[in-house]
Amino acid sequence: MSATNPDTLSALDTSSALDTWRDLPAAQQPDWPDRGELDKVVAELASLPPLVFAGECDQLKDSMAAVARGEAFVLQGGDCAETFAGATAENVRNKLKTLLQMAIVLTYAGRVPVVKIGRLAGQFAKPRSKPMEIRDGVELPAYRGDMVNGFDFTAESRRPDPNRLLRAYHSAAVTLNLTRAFTKGGYADLRQVHAWNQDFVAESPAGRRYEQLAREIDQALSFMRACGAEPEEFHTVEFYSSHEALILDYDRALTRIDSRTGLPYDVSAHMVWIGERTRQLDGAHVEFFSRIRNPIGVKLGPTTTPEEAIALIDKLNPDNEPGRLTFITRMGAGKVRDALPTLVDKVNASGATVAWVCDPMHGNTFEAPSGHKTRRLDDVLDEVAGFFEVHHALGTHPGGIHIEFTGDDVTECVGGGHAIVEEDLALRYETACDPRLNRGQSLDLAFRVAELYRSS
Ligand code: PEP
Ligand code: CO
Repeated sequence: MSATNPDTLSALDTSSALDTWRDLPAAQQPDWPDRGELDKVVAELASLPPLVFAGECDQLKDSMAAVARGEAFVLQGGDCAETFAGATAENVRNKLKTLLQMAIVLTYAGRVPVVKIGRLAGQFAKPRSKPMEIRDGVELPAYRGDMVNGFDFTAESRRPDPNRLLRAYHSAAVTLNLTRAFTKGGYADLRQVHAWNQDFVAESPAGRRYEQLAREIDQALSFMRACGAEPEEFHTVEFYSSHEALILDYDRALTRIDSRTGLPYDVSAHMVWIGERTRQLDGAHVEFFSRIRNPIGVKLGPTTTPEEAIALIDKLNPDNEPGRLTFITRMGAGKVRDALPTLVDKVNASGATVAWVCDPMHGNTFEAPSGHKTRRLDDVLDEVAGFFEVHHALGTHPGGIHIEFTGDDVTECVGGGHAIVEEDLALRYETACDPRLNRGQSLDLAFRVAELYRSS
């Protein structure tokens, strides 16, 4: 057992252990103009109620342990960057509807239990490759997500404003409240499988394919009802929230000691992950994550060495607790078959229990001639196929997908049933950061993953 395992610490030590990250370099933090203002906001955040409960985080950890054992599959997705303006009932419902449809396709066609995790209710901060943005000779701080500054390209809007941390909390609360209502209040009932598709069936090949599947599910449900079986699981859905815990002041302020166990949890989301740009072993993010007890993820890009991955395991999951650690690999379609095998093989040989999830988005971004950042659905599908091939060859479990999608019919990624081409991108390009799959493309992906899962 590690000397720093929170189980062995007193409550006071546990609390101060949550601040050890402050002595380490923290990548990608905003340059807040006024420290006093930040301190005030952080104190207020620390006094606000938790958004999720530690017991729910433990439940998700149990589900992730099933994923790591090869008994379940994770579907994690949502916007690249949520916006405050986007926290509307319609938006959240559309995202949830698409996620539920994808999950049904995976459960029914892939024959696997699906753990559903939204990239939402906190996904308001973005790491950037360049701290400044230049347009027409004017240089301003880059947009770092609604939690930090505004999207508009003006000096006023791009100034980091700590009050945005509070708005992020309240937007997350609104979003989470909606998702809890939708998933527990009847909307996610399996008898709604057709209703989720009603506005979609006529206009899209993916919608029609889904309708066929929904009809089969209906028949199976009628049969079960006739047999007298009406299990509770058919009426509500377990749904979890997640975000990249990038802005450490936000996630630290929302970290609380669970009164049941005396252990610290980041109660801003059920699961949090560390991004590709902030996973330095001696950095503040890894240190902070080593102190909280949530299920956590780490993104791993194509340059990750097996030694780095194993060192991350030693630091983040020293007790090899099942379900605690998920590696979210984002290699790119052209690299996944070369970069992934050694990584998975060596981690597996080390005896570590991790869940492997494929993010087929972040290694496949390119700029179209129009200047739009985009992704090809074919590359996304190819990376997922490569991910399955690698795990199949090694006898390890392809544990899930992590995607950026929206429930709306945007034109941000090319390809799919409607054959969006690069010239179409400007038609409906609405993302505040990376290009997202639209609803049809998301369903296409779900059908493909279900096929891959069944044949793996
Ligand atoms: C993201 O998930 O939006 C992201 C920035 O990913 P990564 O850290 O893998 O680049
Ligand atoms: Co992104």
